[in-house]
Amino acid sequence: MASTTSNSQQPKPVLPWRARISISFLCTLSDAARRSNGTVNRLLINLLDLKSHPNAAPVNGVSSNDVTVDASRNLWCRVFSPTVAAASGGALPVVIFFHGGGFAFLSPDSLAYDAVCRRFCRQIPAVVVSVNYRLTPEHRYPSQYDDGEDILKFLDENRAVLPENADLSKCFLAGDSAGANLAHNVAVRVPKSGLRIIRVVGLVSIQPWFGGEERTAAEEKFKGAPLVSMARTDWLWKVFLPDGSDRDHVAANVSGPNSEDLSGLDYPDTLVVVGGFDPLQDWQRRYYEWLKNSGKNVQLIEYPKMIHAFYVFDDLPESSQLITQIKDFINKRISELN
Ligand SMILES: *[C@@H]1O[C@H](CO)[C@@H](O)[C@H](O)[C@H]1NC(C)=O
Ligand SMILES: *[C@@H]1O[C@H](CO)[C@@H](O)[C@H](O)[C@H]1NC(C)=O
Repeated sequence: MASTTSNSQQPKPVLPWRARISISFLCTLSDAARRSNGTVNRLLINLLDLKSHPNAAPVNGVSSNDVTVDASRNLWCRVFSPTVAAASGGALPVVIFFHGGGFAFLSPDSLAYDAVCRRFCRQIPAVVVSVNYRLTPEHRYPSQYDDGEDILKFLDENRAVLPENADLSKCFLAGDSAGANLAHNVAVRVPKSGLRIIRVVGLVSIQPWFGGEERTAAEEKFKGAPLVSMARTDWLWKVFLPDGSDRDHVAANVSGPNSEDLSGLDYPDTLVVVGGFDPLQDWQRRYYEWLKNSGKNVQLIEYPKMIHAFYVFDDLPESSQLITQIKDFINKRISELN
C-alpha cells in the first residue's frame, strides 16, 4: 500500500517545460552547494549562477546601473529606470526590491532577478532599486535587515543616485520569499530610521518566507516540493538564525508568541501573495491574519495552482497576471495619496 507521505501521492502542479527545467536546475544548484557542515560552496554557485550586466543604454525600454553603497560589506544596488516614462516627464514611484534565495543565494544581477525587476520597471512603470544584501551563512541574522535599512538611509541622503523623475515620497518595499521577510523587517524599522525624504507607502509581499518549529498542514502535504522542501528550509533557517535559537525566533515565526506588537506602528498598506502549491502558505496566511488583526490595511491574493517563486517564470500566464495585480496595487495606492 502506498504511504501517504510518498512523493508520488502528493498533488503536483502543472507547469510549462521551461519553468520545470529552471526549477530543477535551481534545486540541483542549491542542493549541491549546501554543505552538511553549515557552509555554502560559493565557488560552485559563482560558476553556475549566471549574471547579467547593467545597461546604461536602454534595452526594451529599461536602462540600469549599479550603485555602490558600502564597498566594505559589498552593499550595492541595481537601479532600473523606464525610458518611456522618462520621456513623458511624470514623477515615478520607487520600488525597493529584495530578492529571494533563503538569505543564502542569488543577487540583483542573477539572470532571473534582473529580468523580474525589468518587468516591474517597464510595466508599473517605476524606478526599481534591487538590493545586494549580505548572505548567510557568512553573514547571519540580522545583517540582511541591517543592510535593507541602510539602503533606505542611503537613498534618503543620496537622492542624486536616482533618476530625476524618481519620487521618494512614493516608495514601496517589495520582495519575494526571503526578500519578503526582509521587506517586512525593514518596514518595521522604518518609523525609527529617521528618514527625511523617503515615505514608505506600500509593501508588496510575494510568497514571504516565514516558518516555525511546528509543522503546518501545507508543509506536511507538500513535503517534497521544489525549492522550499522542509529539508531545505530547515537547513537555511539553521544557518541564518543566531546560534542556539530555534525556528520560533521572531525572524521566522513572525506572528507567533514572541512577535512584536504592531498595533501602534505606522506599517505600510500591504499586498500578500500566496500560492496553493507552496509549502509555506500557512505561514503566509498567518502573516496576513496577524497584520489584519493588528489593524493594518492588508490584501491577500491567492494563486491556487502556483508553486513557490512561480512569478519568476515568465512563461506562466499567472506570472503576468501577478505583475498586473502589483501594478494595480501600486497605482491605486498612489492615486489615494494624490
Ligand atoms: C566545511 O566543508 C568544506 C568542504 O568539505 C570545507 O572546505 C570547509 O573548510 C568546512 N568548513 C567548516 C567551517 O567546517
Ligand atoms: C508559531 O506561531 C504561531 C502563531 O502564528 C503559534 O500558534 C505557534 O505556537 C508558534 N509555534 C510555536 C512552536 O510556538
